[in-house]
Amino acid sequence: MGTLQTADRIFHRPDLAERLARVVLDDSPTSASPSGVFLSAPRRTGKTTFLRQDLIPALTGAGALVVYVDLWSDRAADPGKVIVAAVKATLSAHAPAVKRLAEKVGIKGGKVAGIEFSVDKIGVGDGATLVDMFVALSDTTKQLIVLLIDEAQHASTSSAGADALFALKAARDELNSNPHFGLRVVCTGSNQDKLAMLRSSKDQAFFGAPLVPFPALGNDFIDWFCANTKGLPGPLLPQTVAPLFRRAGNRPEMLGAAVDALRFDFELSADRVQARFNEAVETQIHDVNQDLLRTIHSLTPIQAAVFKVMAASGTDFAPFEAATLERYQRVMRSSGDKEHRQMQITNVQQSLTALQEKGLAWRAARGVYAIDDPLTVDVMRRHGLLTEGC
Ligand SMILES: Nc1ncnc2c1ncn2[C@@H]1O[C@H](COP(=O)(O)OP(=O)(O)O)[C@@H](O)[C@H]1O
Ligand SMILES: [Mg+2]
Repeated sequence: MGTLQTADRIFHRPDLAERLARVVLDDSPTSASPSGVFLSAPRRTGKTTFLRQDLIPALTGAGALVVYVDLWSDRAADPGKVIVAAVKATLSAHAPAVKRLAEKVGIKGGKVAGIEFSVDKIGVGDGATLVDMFVALSDTTKQLIVLLIDEAQHASTSSAGADALFALKAARDELNSNPHFGLRVVCTGSNQDKLAMLRSSKDQAFFGAPLVPFPALGNDFIDWFCANTKGLPGPLLPQTVAPLFRRAGNRPEMLGAAVDALRFDFELSADRVQARFNEAVETQIHDVNQDLLRTIHSLTPIQAAVFKVMAASGTDFAPFEAATLERYQRVMRSSGDKEHRQMQITNVQQSLTALQEKGLAWRAARGVYAIDDPLTVDVMRRHGLLTEGC
């Protein structure tokens, strides 16, 4: 799947980057963006690529200082620590900011940003807060700071992550107040439901921040892809590739893998390229769906019932309510299961744990459950798995 990955093989989206940068940097009093902007799109559709290749340059070009954090880089790590580490790394590049911070928290002597004291020694919890770090950075650089948090929904899976978000809210409020130079937070996520939890209730740090669907790669990407695909004996036609790309969930890698499959077919004649490409993409789509269906078919009747009801309910899923317990039972009966007439809370709990272990479901820290990948629901619907009873 490496065909599309190197930097010169990226399709750039400068217009989108410019527009988004303007919204993010907008400091007009009517703008809601000081709370942060949330961008959501399914996995593998190009969010990270866009942030790194297009948005960061656009923001930097407009004079902002960008701090990028990927909460998926180490899924086992505490999201709060990952955020702090990224801010520290940026701080380390600005010696006067380190000095300022050291003075603020009362560390005396030593070399600035040198061996004797470094930002690592001034860790959060040892006197310096995330707010202090941002203030030092802001007042030193006199730049607006944009914190990009990729896959931000991970912050809502642990209480440490939730604490980090509150610390960020405090930093944002402080930096956006008068003597400093501003802080904007841009979050991305692969799951709209998960991301929505970070901004939907009053006790959330980013309450009311706009949630914007991140636009999928468009037909201009398809044109670029067809024009730049080398090593095939014949051309690919954009008007044929475009609908396939949509069916493949707008994931560039599905196209890249199909090209790879053709590249080593030395018998391939020019007039067969498009047809074989179409088959290869269909195979990709089929394989991905089959993987998922196999996992679903391996569930016990109870787990399957819980999963189907969860998929059919979306954000309204209330796993332990009496009405939901009845729905599980209806689904089990309609699937022809005779054994488990009575569904208990403990059955539901065990099922939810199993679904998480299989990577099908996801649990927010506060006991809210959701389907891990929203595309799963489409596949289930198309294969008739969400029928009556759900
Ligand atoms: N603009 C683009 N041009 C070319 N390939 C892309 C582009 N965006 C994404 N890709 C390809 O798709 C893959 C997934 O993109 P990524 O940015 O990691 O998605 P996400 O962050 O949404 O999960 C990348 O590895 C890359 O190969
Ligand atoms: Mg990503």
